[in-house]
Amino acid sequence: MPPGFGRRDHDLLCDGVALADIAAAVGTPVYVYSAAVVRDRYRAIDSSFGGYPHALHYALKANSALAIARLLRGLGSGVDANSVWEIEVARRAGFDASQIVFTGVGKSPAELECAVALGVKAINVESAGELARVETIATRLDRQVPVAVRLNPDIDAKSHPHISTGLKINKFGVSMDEALPLLHALDRRPHLKLVAVHVHVGSQITSLEPLRRAAAFVVGVATDLRLRGMPIEYIDLGGGLGVSYDGGAVPTAEQYVTTLLDEVRRSGLPVVLEPGRAIAAPAGVLVARVIDVKPRDASSEFAVIDAGMTELLRPALYNAFHQIEPVTTNDAAPRRYEVVGPVCESSDVVGRDRLLPPLAEGDLVAVRDAGAYGSAMASNYNRRPLPAEVLVDDRQWRVIRRRQTIEDQLALET
Ligand code: LLP
Repeated sequence: MPPGFGRRDHDLLCDGVALADIAAAVGTPVYVYSAAVVRDRYRAIDSSFGGYPHALHYALKANSALAIARLLRGLGSGVDANSVWEIEVARRAGFDASQIVFTGVGKSPAELECAVALGVKAINVESAGELARVETIATRLDRQVPVAVRLNPDIDAKSHPHISTGLKINKFGVSMDEALPLLHALDRRPHLKLVAVHVHVGSQITSLEPLRRAAAFVVGVATDLRLRGMPIEYIDLGGGLGVSYDGGAVPTAEQYVTTLLDEVRRSGLPVVLEPGRAIAAPAGVLVARVIDVKPRDASSEFAVIDAGMTELLRPALYNAFHQIEPVTTNDAAPRRYEVVGPVCESSDVVGRDRLLPPLAEGDLVAVRDAGAYGSAMASNYNRRPLPAEVLVDDRQWRVIRRRQTIEDQLALET
C-alpha cells in the first residue's frame, strides 16, 4: 500500500492503523496525520531539484503542530514563519535562526525587533515602510540585517480570489513601479543586506504557468541587481503548488520544480521555496462522528457531524471541496447528503450534495486532505474546543495535541 490513507476491506486506515481505533481512543473530532506522507511529499519536491542548489522552507502557516515541524526539521527542511509566534514554534521544534525566513504583510515592531535580534536567515520585507522599520532597529543594534524584498509582479495565479496574492490589487509585496528605485538604493543602506528577491503569487495554484511567469520575473530582477554589483544570494519563489482535492489532475512536484528551474537555471542562483499545502494537505484527515441525520428535501438528507467550520474553515470560507468518506463503508446503495457542522451558521457546510453509503447516528466520517490550513485555522467559535491531533508514524500512533478543554479556554479570562 502507498503511504497514507487507504482501505483494508471496509475500514479506512492511516499507514496500517484503523481510524476507527484512533477515534474510539481519542474521541472526535480528531485530526490524524501520516508522517510517511509528510516525508514523501517533502522528498518529492526536494529530490526534484537534483543537484541544483536549493532550500525548502516549509510554510508553518499550513500546519504548525510541533510534531509536524520537528518531522520536517529531521528531513532537512527550513521554515517560513509568518509571525513571531510561528518563529517561536520553529525555535521550540529545534530550528536554528538561520533556517527561518520571516514573511508576512504586517509584522509589528515587536516582531521585527525579535527577528532582528534572533538573526533569522532573512526578513522578507513587504514595503518601503517595513524596510525603514527594519533599518531603524538594525541601526540601533548596529547589525547588518539580511532582507529579501517581496515583489508584487501583478500576475494572476488563477486561484480562489481569497488566496491569490500576486495581483497589483492585492495587499502583498512592493509594486514594480516602486520596487526598482527602492532595490537600487539598498546598496547605500549599510545596515540592510539585500540577500534575495521574493515572490509568492498565491496558493492552491494548479496551473504551472503563473508560477513559471513569477519565477521568470524574479530571475529578471535578480539578474539586473547582480549586474549592478548587488550580492543577491538566492531567489525565494514562495509556495503555492496546489493539491488535488477532488481527484483531478494537478502538476506533480517534479513538473513544478522542473518548470521553475527552466527559468532559474541560467541565473545559477540558489532557489528557496516555501511550500506548505503541497506537503501537509494530503498528510491529514479530519475524523468526525455523525450526530444526527434528518430530511432535507425530496432527494437528500442532512448529515450533521461533530466537526464544522470551527475545525475546518476551508469549505465555509472558500467554498473549498474536500472529499468526505465513511470510515467504515458498507455495500448499501449510496444516498445523497448535505454534510454539515454543528455551528450556528448556515455557511457551516463541510460537503454539499455528496453521495455516500447510508449514514447513521454514531458513524464516523473522514474529511480528506485536511492536513494543511485545517487545524491551523480552527477557532473557538461557539466555545468549541480545538480538536485533538494524532500523528501516525511507522504503524504507531500518538496524540500530538490533546483536545482543548473549556478550562483551557477560561484560564485566559478574569
Ligand atoms: N509563502 C508565503 C509568503 C505565503 O503567504 C504562503 C501562503 C506560503 C508560502 C505557502 O503557500 P502554499 O504552498 O501552502 O500554497 N488558508 C488558505 C491558504 C492561504 C495561504 C497563505 N499563504 C487555504 O486554506 O487555502
